[in-house]
Amino acid sequence: MTQTLPRSAPVSSGVSVGGQAAPPEHLGLISGGLILEGLAPGQLQGWLARVQLMVKPRRFEHVMRVAELAQDIALANGLDPWLAYWAGVLHDVARDLPDAELLRLAPPECEIDAAHPLALHGRAGRTLLARWGLTGRSLHERLMLEAVEDHTTGPRPGNGISACVYIADVSEPGRGVNADIRELALHDLPAALHRAIVSKVTYLQGRGIEVHPRTLSTYHSLR
Ligand SMILES: [Fe+2]
Ligand SMILES: [Fe+2]
Repeated sequence: MTQTLPRSAPVSSGVSVGGQAAPPEHLGLISGGLILEGLAPGQLQGWLARVQLMVKPRRFEHVMRVAELAQDIALANGLDPWLAYWAGVLHDVARDLPDAELLRLAPPECEIDAAHPLALHGRAGRTLLARWGLTGRSLHERLMLEAVEDHTTGPRPGNGISACVYIADVSEPGRGVNADIRELALHDLPAALHRAIVSKVTYLQGRGIEVHPRTLSTYHSLR
């Protein structure tokens, strides 16, 4: 089985989002591991096992590469590496579901969603995770859920964990593309996000392809 634990211990004692550290009581340390706020110690490992059952083997390899790169990006940018890691583990939980299931879990918000149900797998993943008990009742849960939901369209402002997962997803080494964005993110996450989103929107608009409203929202938030 692929690696199941983060490679390095957390170095920060709080969740830093947008440069603001959360109170230290949001985190607790046990035996070299991390209890995320409001979550039982075995719960995260349980989710990893469930994700592995939900996706194809090659997808799971991608998921673990995203988790590890998101962790590295977070570490390099003063964000919580373990939170980024676990958001990465969860990000594609709905990616291999059939279209009908995606449409059921995430009813279309626009014509693009209806025409391309695969684009719904971020929102569908959030719905699925809520059924597993990840409801967004704590700061940590909310940051992870937003990262899962937004990874297909672009991170919303203020969630650095979501930016880590988004960039890791588009640039993990297995993709074979976007190495420049990966390298940039490892020392300047905002610059990498700007490059990734602007190049995506420019590419689509240059070919007359409609841009998802959520991606446009992220794009305008960066300008
Ligand atoms: Fe995805
Ligand atoms: Fe992915």
